[in-house]
This record gives sequence, C-alpha cells and structure tokens, in this order.
Amino acid sequence: MKILVAEPLAAAGIELLKAQPGWDIVISNPKEYAQHLEDADALFVRSAVKVNAEVLAKAPKLRVIGRAGVGVDNVDLPAATAGNVLVMNTPGGNAVAVAEHTLGFMLCMARSIPQASASTKSGKWEKKKFLGSELRGKTLGILGLGYIGQEVAKRARGFEMKIIASDPYANAKIAADLGVSLVSLDELYKQSDFITLHVAITKETNKMLGDAAFAKMKTGVRIVNCARGELIDDAALARAIQSGKVAGAAIDVFEIEPPSADNPLLALERVLATPHIGGSTGEAQEIVGVRIVEQVVDYLQRGVVLNAVNTVAVR
Ligand code: MLT
Repeated sequence: MKILVAEPLAAAGIELLKAQPGWDIVISNPKEYAQHLEDADALFVRSAVKVNAEVLAKAPKLRVIGRAGVGVDNVDLPAATAGNVLVMNTPGGNAVAVAEHTLGFMLCMARSIPQASASTKSGKWEKKKFLGSELRGKTLGILGLGYIGQEVAKRARGFEMKIIASDPYANAKIAADLGVSLVSLDELYKQSDFITLHVAITKETNKMLGDAAFAKMKTGVRIVNCARGELIDDAALARAIQSGKVAGAAIDVFEIEPPSADNPLLALERVLATPHIGGSTGEAQEIVGVRIVEQVVDYLQRGVVLNAVNTVAVR
C-alpha cells in the first residue's frame, strides 16, 4: 500500500501511518507530490494542493483522499466520485482554533490593536486616535451555526454580547442552549454590530455578502471572514468600507490565495488581513492530522467509513 502525504501533517499522524505493516509512506510537498501519484493508494492534503480531474487522472490506483481540515473545496468531488475515490475530512477538528481567531479579529477591530501597535512602534503616541469600543452589549450575527459558529458563540458569551445566528440547518435546541437567537438573514443583517461567516461555499452562499447585503446592514457593522473568500464580493466590501457603511473588516481567507496585490481590500487601513491561519494552531493541526490518519487507516484496513463527503463503492 503506498500512502502519499502531499502537505505537512502532524508528526503523531505520520507515526501512525508508519506503524501500519507493509505500508510505504511517501512524505512530499505541494510542488513535488504529483510525481508519486501513479501508484498511490491514499493521498493526504490540507488546502494548498488542488485535487482536480487532471491530478486524479494521474492516480489510477487512488482509493481515498484524506483532507486534514474541514473545507473540501480544493478537491473536485464529482471527479473523485466518478473515479471511485472516497474523500474524507475532519469536521470540528479545528473549530476552536478558527473560533479563537474570529474573536481575536473582533477585539483587534474594536480596539484597533494592529494599527495602534504599528503606530506606537513607529514612535507615535496617538492615544486620542485609537478610542475604541467594547464588545459588551453589541450584537454578534453568526452566519452558520455549525461546529465553528457554535464555538464562536460560546466565546462571545464571555464578552457579554447578544448573539444571533442565521442558519437554515441550525439545531434549535443547540442554539437555545448556547443562548443564541435564530433569525432570518435579513434580520441578522439589520441587527448585527459584528457579522462573522461560518458557512461553506455553495451556489447560495457564493458572494452572499455583496452590495445588496451590505445595503441591509447597520451602519458601522464590522465583518469577519475566517471561512472562505468566495463568500464576499471584495469590490463591494471595499466600496462599503469607503462609504462608511462598514466600519471594518477582518479577512483570513481569499478567493485566490495568496491574494493578488491589486485586491481592493489590501490597501484599506480598516481591513485586517491574515494568510488563512484560522485553523493553524499546533493543537488543531495535531487533532486534524491524527484524526484524518485514523479515519484513512480504518477505511483501508477495515472498510470503515467516517466523515466521508462523497459516496463510492467500498473496495
Ligand atoms: C479548513 O477548511 O479546515 C480551514 O479553512 C483550515 C484549512 O484550510 O486547513
């Protein structure tokens, strides 16, 4: 059995792979992994490797793709299914990491921490310029109350925020237990002081934050996106910030990563940007790395299918 690891994976996960008798483990990287595809039975990726039809065609023996993380938008699922390749992910494994990044972004925006730090280190003392606002008493609108949205809600409660969420699939009991009121999308836009996105990319969510959505929001709203870049129309967000409708935005994800230098958001002082590191904590990488290896081992050794995002004939 040949196992191809195309992106960094937790050491404990690699050890577990190496412990499987007769398995040949190839540790590669996104630039070189393709040369090992020909006889690979399993492929491990994070988000840098784009597993499209062309890549799958080079891997005729491939039985399973393990995605260490949640989003599987870097894998062509119909092509994988057509090739009878099972795709698995690790939902919830990095939820706390992403939630903490989200709260960090909210505090940074409310208190202008990155800007104040840069100003102070440059020798200025701009105490008046950096008058902040508190999270306490503000309304947080969570778009998508899945694993990550729920972790965000738990933490926002500690800051004494009012929490509302919009999610057609939300579990009403979980929401109630978390002290979250479920509302319509329009109501969330209307009421929120902060809006944070925690939904997957679908036809319905693609560019859901565009001119029409911003027009429905409160003046002075702040936006956090630690989910996927495609959820926001960047040009529309830049316009909304320049007009003062949106007071700030904190963006961890971009439609094209890394974003091009002419991305309209990058030039704006009221935009904070990080390089898709929401899920990048040592703890989260350990969890998703070990979990995905356990799942793939279970599948290849025992035919057990857990957290599959497509359906294929087990072989
Ligand atoms: C995820 O989908 O798990 C997060 O965006 C982090 C990552 O891409 O690895």
